[in-house]
Order: sequence, then structure tokens, then C-alpha cells
Amino acid sequence: MTAPLNWHFPRAELAEKVMDRFKIGATTALTLFAPRRMGKTEFVNKDLLPLAEEQGYITAYVNFWDRKQSPADSLIVGLTKATASLTLEDKGEADKLEVIQQLFDLLLKDGRQLLLALDEVQHLATDKKFEPIVYALRGIIDPNRDQIRVLYTGSSRGGLRKLFARRNAALFSSSQQIDLPTFGRGYLEFTADVFNQATGRALNINECAKAFRTVKKVPYDFRGVIDMLITHGGTDIAGVAELYLADNSQEDTYRVSWDSLKPMDKLVLQYIIMRGGVGIYTVEARSHLAEQLGLDVLDTAPVQNAVNRLRRDGHIASVAQGQYEMEDPYFADWIVTVGTQ
Ligand SMILES: Nc1ncnc2c1ncn2[C@@H]1O[C@H](COP(=O)(O)OP(=O)(O)O)[C@@H](O)[C@H]1O
Ligand SMILES: [Mg+2]
Repeated sequence: MTAPLNWHFPRAELAEKVMDRFKIGATTALTLFAPRRMGKTEFVNKDLLPLAEEQGYITAYVNFWDRKQSPADSLIVGLTKATASLTLEDKGEADKLEVIQQLFDLLLKDGRQLLLALDEVQHLATDKKFEPIVYALRGIIDPNRDQIRVLYTGSSRGGLRKLFARRNAALFSSSQQIDLPTFGRGYLEFTADVFNQATGRALNINECAKAFRTVKKVPYDFRGVIDMLITHGGTDIAGVAELYLADNSQEDTYRVSWDSLKPMDKLVLQYIIMRGGVGIYTVEARSHLAEQLGLDVLDTAPVQNAVNRLRRDGHIASVAQGQYEMEDPYFADWIVTVGTQ
């Protein structure tokens, strides 16, 4: 029997870098940000945690998107898996927070350093009723800083900022940020090679690069293109990428979102897209907006209100002082090509 194909392109360097930061630096928490489907979960589970285990850590992986209604359940699921090799006492009828506390106690009693990966952690900021979980986590992590290392990952810059900006969440604010690099040629060559093992067909790397750009360098979508090409036949990956995009178009949802926006918000979004997200409050920007709206002058306040609404609804995120970015790059493209018509 032949070994199953392995499509995972290792991010060994990044994993080493993270572990070095934990080991050498005084860093006890890191935040890994990247938009959805860029490979955060795969990195954590296939690169980082295995390396941490090799280095003598005990590891726990919690994904808050596993049980969106109940972060407590997400924690219990993740921690229970982590403690599977340890002996768990009878939990009885204890409430969930108590169960979580017990699971942590068990992990800490083990004595090894604990690497806790909290995936899609910004989810905790989406509902007030999740606040007790945030406090509970802080109450567990804070006093055990010498034994616990935490990797937070998140898909929404806005969401992470919201969570980390909590006055009482000192735990998060002390965390340093690292970025998940976008894949380059190495990944394309690796994937083309596995594709070749799977099909016997050889892909042109420049065509792969073109297809990768078509799907905005999102690995999830590139993998979708590869799967489509496997059944489609041939080697025209750039052509199939276009087909893939057409098949997976968000056309309808984008139209609905766009139509629901106030005229002012639409203009602000367009301005952000066109001008790289800076200078939205400048005199030039405001006179441009005023002109579009048929007004003589425009204060900063209504612009600020529009920005706040767009942030609240997850359309844009603040990436630096006075700089904004659209959360969904496909929606940005859609607005440029369709929304203006
Ligand atoms: N290192 C990798 N090598 C190959 N494919 C990857 C890699 N990372 C991600 N992918 C592809 O992208 C998909 C989405 O990755 P995932 O880790 O779930 O993204 P995220 O957690 O950022 O939303 C995976 O299912 C896989 O097909
Ligand atoms: Mg994920």
C-alpha cells in the first residue's frame, strides 16, 4: 500500500521562531493574526504543537469556533483532549467553569510547561455573556505565567483589538503579535509536486503563481482549485482558478451587504479601498465625500460615525492609528468592480 499523500507544507521556521520567543524572550503570550483560511489552525496543529511536544511541553488546543454558542464547551473539549493521557478525577455535577478549573489544575499538576493554543479567540468578544470565560481564563493564566505559554490566534483584526482592548483583560494586552506569512514559491512547488504524485500531470509554476494570485493567495482556495483541477483534468490551473472563483462567488451576499449600507458608509468604504485606508478624516477626504453627497461641507463627526458603524459590522478594521483595512479582500474587489455601478 502506498502512503497517503501529504498536502501539508510545513512552516517549520515559523514554529521554531514562536518556540524561541517563548523560550528565550520573557514572552508568555503571542498573538498570531491572519484572515480566515490562511492556515492558522493547520499551523498550530501540524507545526507548532508537535514541535512544542518534542521540546517537552504538554499542549492543549482550544478552538472557540468549535462550539460557537458556548466557549466553555470549547474549552472543555480542548482541555479534555489534552488531559486524555492524564488521570481525570470524577467530575461529578460541577458547573462548567469548575470543570475548566479542574482540567487546568490537572494539566498544571503534570509539571511540564503548558502551551495553550486558543484559536479564534476574538470570538470571546462577540457576546457579553462570554465575559465570565474571559475572566476565568485570566484567573487561570495570570497567576501561572511561569508555567503557561499562550498562543492566541484570530481571524479578525477588529475582533482581536476589541478583545485585547478590554480594560480588564490585561492578560491579552501583554501579548506580542506575530504575523502568519503568506505562502510563496516554495509552497507552490511543493503543492505542484504532490499534485504530480496524485495525477502524473506536471504543472507550470508560473501558471500556479497566477492561479494563486487569482484566489488572493488564500491556501484554502488554492487547495480548492487543485481539487477542481484533479477532476477537471489537464494542467490549465490558471483557467481552473477562474472557474473556481466563479463557482464560489459571494456575489449575492456582497450585493445584500452593499445595498444595506448607508450612502455615507459606501463612500467611506470606497475611499478606504482606493486610498489604502489612510487620510479618511483629512480636509481633502471630507470635501471629496461632501461633493459626492451633494453637500457643501462635512465635519469629521459623521465620518467618524460611518467608520464606527463599518467597524462594528466587521467591514473594516483599524490596523494602525488612523489607518483602516477591509476585513474581506474579496468584498473590496467586488466593491471596486461592481458596487460602484
Ligand atoms: N501549511 C499548509 N500546507 C498546505 N495547505 C495548507 C496549509 N495551511 C493551510 N492549508 C490549506 O488551507 C486550508 C485552511 O487552513 P486553516 O488552517 O483551516 O485556516 P485558518 O485556520 O487560518 O482559517 C486547509 O484546510 C488547507 O487546505
Ligand atoms: Mg482556523
